Amino acid sequence: MTPPRGLNALHLHQGHPDFLDLPWYLPLEEWRLEVCPRLVEVPRGLSRHPVVFVSYGAHIYALKELPLSVGRREYEMLRGLEERHLPAVTVVGLARVRVPGEPGDEVAILLTQYLPSSLPYRVLFMNKGLERYRERLLDSMASLLVRLHLGGFFWGDCSLSNVLFRRDAGELQAYAVDAETSELHPKLSDGQRELDLLIMEENVTGGLADLAAMVELPPTLDVYATAPSIRQRYERLWAEINKELILTPGESYRIHERIRALNELGFSVGEVDLVASGDGSQLRMRTIVTDREYHRHQLHNLTGLVAEERQAALLLNEVRELKATLTREMNRSVPLSVAAFRWLDERFRPTLNKLERELGPAADEAELYCQVLEHKWFLSERAKRDVGLEVAVKGYVTLRREQPAPALLRSATEPLPGVVANTGTSPTDKQEAPSSERS
Ligand SMILES: Nc1ncnc2c1ncn2[C@@H]1O[C@H](COP(=O)(O)OP(=O)(O)OP(=O)(O)O)[C@@H](O)[C@H]1O
Ligand SMILES: [Mg+2]
Repeated sequence: MTPPRGLNALHLHQGHPDFLDLPWYLPLEEWRLEVCPRLVEVPRGLSRHPVVFVSYGAHIYALKELPLSVGRREYEMLRGLEERHLPAVTVVGLARVRVPGEPGDEVAILLTQYLPSSLPYRVLFMNKGLERYRERLLDSMASLLVRLHLGGFFWGDCSLSNVLFRRDAGELQAYAVDAETSELHPKLSDGQRELDLLIMEENVTGGLADLAAMVELPPTLDVYATAPSIRQRYERLWAEINKELILTPGESYRIHERIRALNELGFSVGEVDLVASGDGSQLRMRTIVTDREYHRHQLHNLTGLVAEERQAALLLNEVRELKATLTREMNRSVPLSVAAFRWLDERFRPTLNKLERELGPAADEAELYCQVLEHKWFLSERAKRDVGLEVAVKGYVTLRREQPAPALLRSATEPLPGVVANTGTSPTDKQEAPSSERS
């Protein structure tokens, strides 16, 4: 006789718990708090497969049950995405669970790290106060697909439910969350990209039609016009990145111009190809971009901080401003690394310490700091002079006390208080305020 359901094998990456205390002898749908006190409820997208979330201290993990072959495949795909530094949830391990009657008497349970501070699209749509992010969704999805396609990732199932959004200094960064149907290639053909776009359009339109039956969509997010608009944004960005320039040999400054323009869009340029064309009097220039994390890398190298791309670009602007001020004050050139150190020590850390004392611990420090900066610009614009960081922090604290932003200010020891399951809404998220009155 086959023994009953239970854990057959567990393959885990280092640096995580062993998960042996979980009730593996039960199907995921039957995990309840009585048998699994680690169970937590988080806002989530729709899914065909059973998915549960468990917490080990401040760390939350997602567990998803799948047929074994599908689970193995998704595991490999997520590993591949991580190796290629593409934005997706991070896989932690794969369990093989004995289930008599299943093919091979086994199923897979895929373990991923819960993407902190992430919002499923339903939360973006159902919570007042998050309206301003809804349209940003179009750009972030287009940008995610461009990045994945540049990295050779054919998704095969891009949908609203399969993307998670993180706030990024007033914009959104999108992450892929579901890779069962995906393929990794050295490079995608135009046909593969086209197919992925068609799937995205069908899924997004379907997702919005379902949502429109439940909530009122903003007029700018029409059920049928939204997906084509994501495609348009995708195509514009793709064309910009892959644009070829024709130069004459004396125009080398245009090479630097082009690289700077791509960097400003956040793309890092890995290689530049220059090929003589025609009679040799002209050069064709093609740039190969490696990722869209130019500012993230630069900020990390200078300060050790991990931030999203737009947050990093804003923070680096502040570092550069400080460099200019120091250069003026000292009457000599100050390296960016020195300015970065001073900025971290004199602005970033003290501001966050003050905010922590006043408002409690932050879930996303870089985002919080960016919101203070945004508030500073708002106040300065109104006062028609630079009001300074201290005034901005005070004003921001008052604003937050009136309209708390719980998704950003969470306790590190008690993850996700008050977050409820499956409805996609959180009572604490409902009152979330825009980061400043300007929004
Ligand atoms: N690591 C994670 N971090 C945050 N949320 C997650 C994570 N993994 C899953 N989720 C949430 O759970 C939902 C379901 O997960 P997923 O899309 O992987 O399931 P699925 O059953 O394969 O979906 P589909 O029906 O598209 O095949 C997601 O929409 C997302 O909201
Ligand atoms: Mg899914």
